[in-house]
Amino acid sequence: MKAFKLVCPVYTLDYKQLLPGGKELTPEALDELIASNKEASYQSCPILKYGTIHQDLRRFLQENPYNINFEKPDQAGGLALMSKIDFIPPLLKFFDYFKENDAYTYRHSLVVFALSILLAQDLLKETEDWIVDVMAGTIHDFGKVNVPLKILKKKEPLTRVDKIILEHHALAGFVLLSYFFQDHGKFAAWAAKEHHERRDGSGYPLGIPMKDRMIEIISVCDIYDALLSPRPHRPIPYDNRTALEEITDMAEKGKIGWEVVQALVSYSRKDRPAFQECKVSVEKRGASRADDLRRIDALRKMKCPNCHGTAREIKTSREEVEQIHYECRSCGNTFSEDDLLNMELDFS
Ligand SMILES: [Fe+2]
Ligand SMILES: [Fe+2]
Repeated sequence: MKAFKLVCPVYTLDYKQLLPGGKELTPEALDELIASNKEASYQSCPILKYGTIHQDLRRFLQENPYNINFEKPDQAGGLALMSKIDFIPPLLKFFDYFKENDAYTYRHSLVVFALSILLAQDLLKETEDWIVDVMAGTIHDFGKVNVPLKILKKKEPLTRVDKIILEHHALAGFVLLSYFFQDHGKFAAWAAKEHHERRDGSGYPLGIPMKDRMIEIISVCDIYDALLSPRPHRPIPYDNRTALEEITDMAEKGKIGWEVVQALVSYSRKDRPAFQECKVSVEKRGASRADDLRRIDALRKMKCPNCHGTAREIKTSREEVEQIHYECRSCGNTFSEDDLLNMELDFS
């Protein structure tokens, strides 16, 4: 495992600091941390029997477009499979915390869980290992317990510091899950760490190429649900078609794999083709990205993502194609519509 440094401290929901900011995450440091928790023994409980999770999940899957993807939630949605998955109390506390404090993260975690099972059933059925790995979809954002709620629920654009703290959720999730599972090789911990990485190495926290198929499935479900959800900084969600086009666009750029996109798109088709036969159109016919961005821009009033100053539009022309950039009147930062869209994905 490549060693890397934590930018922020990692602490549990009951404020116990596990590692300080600046700590180098070597296997030895993780072994030492895990050894400090070796006396703990946890009584696990099936996730769907905990609190109101089962009924909440069923309700979420009845909302558009998931009601189409999961026409019969008990069968197609793999609820039977989910009911076999046990969680230990520290993981269940994650759901209590977000149910009470951030309804988006609560709902998102459960929906990504269900959706990733749906796609894994198609894409990984020849292998058996994924069945024990599906729990990772539910807790991919476990590290968000370390992100202040005022950042998770912020209506204004994130500052550079907010962004660093938000991105810390990937490594924080890895450390926390390694600690609670008493094993830093556990798949769910690795999925928490790598679900924002991309195939072309353009993701975070390490900027390494995403290689694992199950993590890629979780990652695509994560992006899809983030786009379809109203968010504090973007109250108008993407419609299904536009969300799928954004994901197709990412496949065209080599950030995610085509097969996962095919599997996702096939669930929105009436004839539900097998993913290998699902032709994904690269033609953009949903609400245009410009329309979406105009809505986002109108909401943000083109505030600079760096300092929140107002920005002015700069038009340039390259090979006779008009390009639009924005320049902040206060700090001089220049940014594009793509930068704003990438910010959308940082929240997922
Ligand atoms: Fe997420
Ligand atoms: Fe995330």
